[in-house]
Amino acid sequence: MRALTWQGKHDVRVDTVPDHRIVNPRDAIIEVTATAICGSDLHLYDGVIPGLRPGDVLGHEFMGRVVETGPGSTLKPGQRVVVPFTISCGSCFFCAQGQFSACDNSNPVEAQEASEMLYGHAMSGLFGYSHLTGGYPGGQAEYVRVPFSDVGPIVVPDGVPDEQVLFLSDILPTGWMAAENAQIQPGDSVAVWGCGPVGLFTVQSALLMGAEQVIAIDHHPNRLRLARDLGARVIDYRHSHVLEALLEMTGGIGPDAVIDAVGMESHGFAPDNLLDTAKQKVGIGVDRAHVLRMALLAVRKGGRVSVPGVYGGFADKFPLGALMEKGLQIRAGQTHVQKYGQDLLQRILEGQIDTTFLISHRLSLEDAATGYRNFRDNQDEWTKVVLKPR
Ligand SMILES: NC(=O)c1ccc[n+]([C@@H]2O[C@H](COP(=O)([O-])OP(=O)(O)OC[C@H]3O[C@@H](n4cnc5c(N)ncnc54)[C@H](O)[C@@H]3O)[C@@H](O)[C@H]2O)c1
Ligand SMILES: [Zn+2]
Ligand SMILES: [Zn+2]
Repeated sequence: MRALTWQGKHDVRVDTVPDHRIVNPRDAIIEVTATAICGSDLHLYDGVIPGLRPGDVLGHEFMGRVVETGPGSTLKPGQRVVVPFTISCGSCFFCAQGQFSACDNSNPVEAQEASEMLYGHAMSGLFGYSHLTGGYPGGQAEYVRVPFSDVGPIVVPDGVPDEQVLFLSDILPTGWMAAENAQIQPGDSVAVWGCGPVGLFTVQSALLMGAEQVIAIDHHPNRLRLARDLGARVIDYRHSHVLEALLEMTGGIGPDAVIDAVGMESHGFAPDNLLDTAKQKVGIGVDRAHVLRMALLAVRKGGRVSVPGVYGGFADKFPLGALMEKGLQIRAGQTHVQKYGQDLLQRILEGQIDTTFLISHRLSLEDAATGYRNFRDNQDEWTKVVLKPR
């Protein structure tokens, strides 16, 4: 089959790789009909997430048609499904309480040591996201093997276009969980850093949850425009002093909740970011945590901090004093995708949530490398790339 493979930093290629087969009784094989490139894939592309090997198949946002099932799968050949990027057994201690991205049974032992060393515990397996998360071949491919297919996949009714439901695999539930983690109350002021796909879905979710004012921060005019179209007020951080602007827009108090939808590859020339960038370049640092630092300073006393942006290591210059002295609450995490699928599918079908406004480019899988390059280097124009294997 054809699949997008990682070969090294800034080097991805579509290659012919071995076909999948059923390995475990609960597996299903899906023929991919649509897949997308995520901001998280850029961290792999840029080589800042460890644990990739040349030839690894990337992709964790995908959907398709079931072509083969093991005896323990509840899916049927021919069904259309969207597959969560988190691989979760559905029955361990963590899955049982809806913490699917903490599943104890989907990350093979080989990968657990590194994860335990970095995080104290092993996290769940993820599709196409390095050997730290199990080394599972991803969905930017013609076919994918889906483990625990009786738990994760969301069956989609015929007649609903792929593009309306594809983002249930990741960024839509991620934006939703980011807003939920910010514990938004009607009347709240909420600041969201990053107007990429995750930030945009976070803005949309925060407004749906009753936020009175959502302030979106980025530097790409087109991405800021998309946020404004959703109903956000916007700050272009190149032209404003963000902390002062946020105080001014919140009556001198600061936002009730702040959300970091940027993560470990913050842009910009702030001194702490330049230092982090240098450390990342020479391999003695993993995270450029500029946005998280700003968010902790910006949020009002007693406020809430939500971190959907991905971080992988040990950030320094962390404003621990602000966290403690202001009495902040902080919540983060890879999204527990399986927890949100049915509810968000319903909201899409009822027309409450539009998921297609951010798609800027549709390419064939064969052109995936062009998609990666532009999604990274022409961010303003390339807001979301959907790949079609056939
Ligand atoms: N928690 C999860 O499960 C989960 C799921 C998907 C994505 N993510 C993460 O969410 C983050 C965003 O993903 P995306 O797909 O939207 O990525 P993206 O790269 O398309 O968007 C990031 C945006 O942040 C903006 N940005 C960069 N530095 C900034 C700064 N200093 N201030 C304000 N804005 C800044 C960029 O201009 C860009 O528009 C990534 O870290 C990604 O890995 C997490
Ligand atoms: Zn993603
Ligand atoms: Zn589990």
